[in-house]
Amino acid sequence: MNEAQPGILGPVPRLARYLPFSLSDISRAGKALQSLHGLADGDQTVVGLGQPLVLGLGARVEGLRAFPSYAGAGFTVPSTPAALWFWHRGDDRGELTLRSRSIQRAMSPAFGVETVIDAFQYGASRDLTGFQDGTENPQGKKAIEAGIVQGRGEGLDGSSFIAVQQWVHDLDRFDAMSPKEQDDTVGRRKSDNEELADAPPSSHVKRTAQETFTPQAFVVRRSMPWADGARSGLVFVAFGKSLDAFEALLKRMVGAEDGIVDALFNFTRPVSGSYFWCPPMRSGRLDLSALGL
Ligand code: HEM
Repeated sequence: MNEAQPGILGPVPRLARYLPFSLSDISRAGKALQSLHGLADGDQTVVGLGQPLVLGLGARVEGLRAFPSYAGAGFTVPSTPAALWFWHRGDDRGELTLRSRSIQRAMSPAFGVETVIDAFQYGASRDLTGFQDGTENPQGKKAIEAGIVQGRGEGLDGSSFIAVQQWVHDLDRFDAMSPKEQDDTVGRRKSDNEELADAPPSSHVKRTAQETFTPQAFVVRRSMPWADGARSGLVFVAFGKSLDAFEALLKRMVGAEDGIVDALFNFTRPVSGSYFWCPPMRSGRLDLSALGL
């Protein structure tokens, strides 16, 4: 029986380290991936594989594709494909650093690390703007239904697709907004997280109201704030049984349907955008059989 990597549906950790890798030598990729059995437990370390890697291995995961890019009015949404992605979860930055080093060593020379993003929880799951993030996430059975592949057979059932974007906030710009402008940007009241019925159509939660899509566009969001030196923002992460729900949400955010752009773009921009497939687990190990490994 296949199961999901436990870190996907578990609570968001206090600290995390994201490591996207690019492919350096496909001929050594299979061996490197096999070494993950002892290194990535799917819980403390969640693993995702990108389209360049899957295709390079001569395999196919139906539904995995390249991240779409958009050029909107005064902003871009970039597509930055990567081969492999790790979400190291924990509560000790030293341990996370050393765990990342072990993975880097094991993945070399097949894969080279692209960048390292240190992330953390702010208060009770807040974005750095102070707004609570994750309120409308599906829970329990509904989270499994939205986030985990089922009914597609051994090797695929229990897997999940993810969309990852690093967003860089301009917090000076956000702070310069009045409290009402801030609330209208998100569509919720920061002080008590109440949804605002009269929020403008550009407000983020009006744009992304999951039940208003056909079919409904539920995703399992596991985003975390990040910071390095003077820059900071949100690593947006959404798990899905396919990438369709995320794509529908993003399309509406950029105004591709009706020209109304999500007000979030007034103070924050994505600088990366990648899709990955998270293999399932079988008997406590990553199951890479869909890739012939
Ligand atoms: C910097 C980027 C982002 C920030 C700061 C942000 C923040 C938030 C906040 C504060 C909420 C309201 C509370 C909640 O239900 O979680 C929310 C809701 C939501 N966001 Fe985002 N978000 C960001 C990007 C995105 C992206 C890229 C997507 C998908 C393409 C997305 C999809 C959603 C969805 C589906 C909801 C719930 C809407 C509903 O059904 O009520 N968000 N977000």
